[in-house]
Amino acid sequence: MGWIEITGGTPLHGKVRIQGSKNAALPILAGAILHQGRTVIENCPVITDVLWTIRILEELGCVVRFEKNRLEIDSSKVQACRIPGELGSRMRSSVIFLGSLLGRMKKAWIPYPGGCTIGKRPLDLHQEALEALGAVITEEDGFLRAETSGLEGAVIRFGFPSVGATENAILGAVLAKGVTTIFGAAMEPEIWELCRFLNEKGAKITWMKRGEIRIEGVKRLQDSRFVLTADRIVAGTYLFGAIATRGRVFLEDAPGPQMREVLRTARLMGAQAEESKSGLWINAEKAFRSPEFVRTAPYPGFPTDLQSPLLTAASLAKGKTAVQETIFESRFQTASQLRKMGAQIAVEGNRALITGTDCLHGACVEARELRGGAALILAGLAAKGVTQVRNTEYISRGYEDICRDLRCLGAKLKEGFYSDST
Ligand code: UD1
Repeated sequence: MGWIEITGGTPLHGKVRIQGSKNAALPILAGAILHQGRTVIENCPVITDVLWTIRILEELGCVVRFEKNRLEIDSSKVQACRIPGELGSRMRSSVIFLGSLLGRMKKAWIPYPGGCTIGKRPLDLHQEALEALGAVITEEDGFLRAETSGLEGAVIRFGFPSVGATENAILGAVLAKGVTTIFGAAMEPEIWELCRFLNEKGAKITWMKRGEIRIEGVKRLQDSRFVLTADRIVAGTYLFGAIATRGRVFLEDAPGPQMREVLRTARLMGAQAEESKSGLWINAEKAFRSPEFVRTAPYPGFPTDLQSPLLTAASLAKGKTAVQETIFESRFQTASQLRKMGAQIAVEGNRALITGTDCLHGACVEARELRGGAALILAGLAAKGVTQVRNTEYISRGYEDICRDLRCLGAKLKEGFYSDST
């Protein structure tokens, strides 16, 4: 198991380049198998979720080369349609192969997905969307079995804008016969990225208006080269790190236009945020104020993935902050670990009430999920003394090298491994 040790007390200062987007990469990798040929993806982050997804692609018959953030996938010989149990159960996003395998192979056999332990995360919306396109889906021994005699365009109406289910619907519809219209689609930037990727491969996807996507099925796709956008969640994590430590940073390539609500919150806290073509300038030297109330919501609302980093920053602000989590029911697991460091956070149901304190102190804490783990590192940066964050495998799922990035900003960190018995 991995650990990261942080000697806190130094404001983040300097410039860091933001890696490619994890949540855009995963459905795009799954989408590559819709094409019988070559796909190149540049700026692909080297994170464990991508590495596991590559293993899945290889199991399905793809030939993959991954060097220096350049990923090359040859999917001309995909023959399998079953994702092995141990691979699928490692990450929830493996469910995204349902739509693309059905599109390519007319069959998919996928282990009931795992991932971070942040809530129930059912799959009913994925299932309904693909069934509308003509798939028959059953559950058997922990696997989802999906089959079709050929997907056909349909009208899909989501009661909730699920990111993954919208991606599966799009992936299923690209090679389906006829036109698919999705109403109530998720509007996250990663969905836009997936559509941009597929259109560059020859798909015919149009964003009609808010929440409405039209897909005209095509017979085949073509070779392509695609450059992934920077990760708005990683950028937001470092932004809250700057606020927690009262630092001043430049987040190179950070996608400011995708971060409106996060930037609004940062400004409420007293930070100055300036967008430029090459990234985001954050001056948080005077970021002492509480944002008072923050509610997570589907895009363009405040992202649930930045709720934990916000908890850390709000723990060090003046006054009280109420945070309401509306997306995942168990996403306050980090609160108990932050309390060990002196944070005052009371959690009741889907609300957390944070009373800001002048300083946190170092402690030994445990990451329990990806973004919560990163939030603990931010707390360590701001705390007096030394903090050890354990179970850092969770963090490697989404951050290419969080220690390298934070060292660019002047942080003092060490990392290592321990055995289970320590
Ligand atoms: C994606 C992101 C994740 C982010 C989340 C919300 C990826 C790889 N992951 O996850 O980082 O936190 O969006 O922005 O892109 N739901 C159902 N039925 C379904 C599907 C979802 O009830 O069939 C519920 C979930 O339980 C959850 C909510 O909808 O409460 C949001 O889930 P969803 O938007 O699907 O998130 P993911 O695609 O899993």
